[in-house]
Amino acid sequence: MTRKPLIAGNWKMNGSLAESRQLVDALRAGITAGGAAAATMLLCPPFVYLPAVQGWLQGSPIALGAQDLADKPGSGAYTGEVSGQMLREVGCSHVIVGHSERRALYGETDAVVAAKFKAAQAAGLVPIVCVGETLEQREAGQTRSVISAQVAAVVDSAGVQAFSKAVIAYEPVWAIGTGRTATPDQAQEVHAFIRGMVAARDATIAAGLRVLYGGSVKGANARSLFAMADIDGGLVGGASLTAAEFLEIFRAAA
Ligand code: PGA
Repeated sequence: MTRKPLIAGNWKMNGSLAESRQLVDALRAGITAGGAAAATMLLCPPFVYLPAVQGWLQGSPIALGAQDLADKPGSGAYTGEVSGQMLREVGCSHVIVGHSERRALYGETDAVVAAKFKAAQAAGLVPIVCVGETLEQREAGQTRSVISAQVAAVVDSAGVQAFSKAVIAYEPVWAIGTGRTATPDQAQEVHAFIRGMVAARDATIAAGLRVLYGGSVKGANARSLFAMADIDGGLVGGASLTAAEFLEIFRAAA
């Protein structure tokens, strides 16, 4: 089964409204019909910019996603939270869940990540669930056990069938924002491991599952990463804030 690559830009808490407009305009101008047919470009701006970005993207093939959502389905008394349904309303098709910054800085546990994954799907969004080991864990030889526990927490809770409409992003924590990217071989090894875990439960779903790599993806290293058999695109932070760099990464996948 061929998997259409996905290149997702995670803006994190960056940029102003004016800078966002410039970025979106430059990406619109730079994406070709051929490129859009070969790969999907997804932008994940901060919540408050979503309606504006949706407007600027009208008529373009670029998709819109959010960086997080509430772990509760529906609506209710959850001050400060944003529901999956609200994200759908402003044009999101995807949402990132369990980013390592959410896990490390905001205390999100595997159980919270699984609840967010399910809330996303209940609202009709495709969750991009992030997993990844710290440098300490890698050096202690715990990479597989960490990834295995993070993936299993979601698969056990949501069921393997849920992965026919989900994406997994492997983001080694030591590679995020550090300029120190995993080598293509290091990434491929973990990607194959993740796909194997899903294949053990359902081979067809595993074959169609997109597994993205994230962590210091740049124009200069994208091509060699995306050439690997089990790397189906990227979740890009810093380099997604510069149109020329993000377009170069996109072209490496398309
Ligand atoms: P980076 O971030 O590309 O800046 O390393 C990736 C991410 O955190 O999604």
